[in-house]
Amino acid sequence: MRLQLATWPQVEAYLERSRAIILPIGSTEQHGPTGLIGTDALCAEAVALRVGEALEVMVAPTIAVGMAQHHMEFPGSMTLKPSTLMAVVRDCLASLVRHGFERVLMINGHGGNVATVQAAFAETQTELDRLSPRPPLRTRLLNWWELPAVERLSVRLYGDAVGSHATPPEVALTWALHPETADPRPLEPRIAPYGAFFSAADFRSRFPDGRIGSDPSLATPAHGEQLLKVAAEEIAGMAGTFFTAD
Ligand code: NI
Repeated sequence: MRLQLATWPQVEAYLERSRAIILPIGSTEQHGPTGLIGTDALCAEAVALRVGEALEVMVAPTIAVGMAQHHMEFPGSMTLKPSTLMAVVRDCLASLVRHGFERVLMINGHGGNVATVQAAFAETQTELDRLSPRPPLRTRLLNWWELPAVERLSVRLYGDAVGSHATPPEVALTWALHPETADPRPLEPRIAPYGAFFSAADFRSRFPDGRIGSDPSLATPAHGEQLLKVAAEEIAGMAGTFFTAD
């Protein structure tokens, strides 16, 4: 069930039986020379839709632009300032809770969003708490690539070539969704350098093709389908209680 494809009477009827919703969040940023700019948003949305199907839970529109300042030296990357992203998340949550959605699971595709989304959760709870002593909203953030079963499968498929940006698991997932974009050409060096970064320019000088520690040429659409299945199953297993518990 996608919120965007529902009518308001359908949403009203849904809220009679459930207060659960999934809100995917990603990013729009470079993913190396062969990965799609939309990777993080596409992955989060695909996992969210699978979980939504499995649990019959509504899925809200994806927040497709995140906090990606460190990728801004690469064409096509878009970013929200942390304060803007916090306001976006806070206002989305406030809109949902206004209608009675009280269990909001955010499925995230981008590490750079984590601190800001957690801060937005705290900010929203603070605001609600000032309005009522027992605010009904519960929020949870899950990073799909860090789920234990996804990490196990990623290491089994790619060993030491997973890395931390433009990773073969995320690239594989997008190629499963859009096989016509698959570009498994070998890259040089095979495994990209690994390490910390600071400004956007510093990122590009340390990681000239945009990858960090990864070899996305190992990705295949079939791997992506496997990863999507494992991620959705694991989240569905964890989220059932979150959605229904008092
Ligand atoms: Ni990514």
